[in-house]
Amino acid sequence: MLYDTKMGGYELIDLAAELIRRDEVVAFPTETVYGLGGNALSDVAIQRIYEAKNRPKDNPFIVHVTSLEQADRVAYVTDDAEVLFKAFAPGPITVVLKKRDCIPYSATAGLDTVGIRMPSHPMARTFIDACGLPIAAPSANLSKRVSPTKANYVYDDMAGRVPLILDGGDCEVGIESTVISLAGDVPTVLRPGIVTVEKLMAVLPAVKTFSGEVKVAPAPGMKYTHYAPTALCYGFERDESALSYVKNNSDKSVVILCKGEAGRFSPNKAISLGKDGTEIAHNVFSAMRECERQYDVILLQMLSSSGEEGAVMNRILKSCGGKVLS
Ligand code: TXA
Ligand code: MG
Repeated sequence: MLYDTKMGGYELIDLAAELIRRDEVVAFPTETVYGLGGNALSDVAIQRIYEAKNRPKDNPFIVHVTSLEQADRVAYVTDDAEVLFKAFAPGPITVVLKKRDCIPYSATAGLDTVGIRMPSHPMARTFIDACGLPIAAPSANLSKRVSPTKANYVYDDMAGRVPLILDGGDCEVGIESTVISLAGDVPTVLRPGIVTVEKLMAVLPAVKTFSGEVKVAPAPGMKYTHYAPTALCYGFERDESALSYVKNNSDKSVVILCKGEAGRFSPNKAISLGKDGTEIAHNVFSAMRECERQYDVILLQMLSSSGEEGAVMNRILKSCGGKVLS
């Protein structure tokens, strides 16, 4: 295991690219969360990513590229896709398109479509360009764990499982990319993110959101319980519900993760995740990773269901498995 915290990582880019050309798996930073990358054109590399992550084989990977031209070599880039990439890429958006033959079905879990993303993180871009290959990458957590927003969280999950972790610091966005499918009749948001439905509607004539029970999952990943910290998690709407939970569970160590000032919960342990959706997105996963080590129970404040807060709410509900204090 090579783990670089202080060197900045750029010295290791050549080594990373060499490992990728040998079908090895390399963890790398993006502006959303860390990814576990491998050569998207290689079945061997794809199998190694599934193994390192312990991921069910029916959940496809996003393919990361650095340009529209590179995107068009792996997928059929439609006019709407071009509009989306021009408006939001490089950045936290994944566009699901019909795949080209060069992408193996193992990478797409048998689907004829592939999610394409152009990350904006400079180290991600340098890494992908040095490889000269499209990079398949899920988030760099073990399956069912919280997505990692710092290299040391990747290390916690992946030590001994991958040969190299590139350290690019703290991920700016903090939650995974918006996934929008252009493979059907109407563009459909499969996973909400910081590129909100409102922003998408400003550039596309119509956008559907996927909601409801997942029976036949349009994004296979949606049917799995995700983002589950090892501590017990509950959502709460009203401050009083959180406070009475703490009072009635004095045998447990409890932390409250809230929006806005944490002082209102004093003398109970509370941490502010930020004042708005963007700040909360940046902090939510790292707060969960830090708190799960220290507390039995994490209480998460529920947020609005639209905009940036809505994207975070999607993750909060998954962390709590839908359990909300009354
Ligand atoms: O921000 C991100 O998107 C991060 C960074 C590393 O780029 N990646 C990430 O990958 O979150 P992952 O594998 O953890 O989540 C990808 C999601 C899954 O829910 C998967 O089912 C869905 O995207 N997905 C991928 N390809 C798809 C496809 N062809 N059709 C429908 N959904 C797809
Ligand atoms: Mg993931």
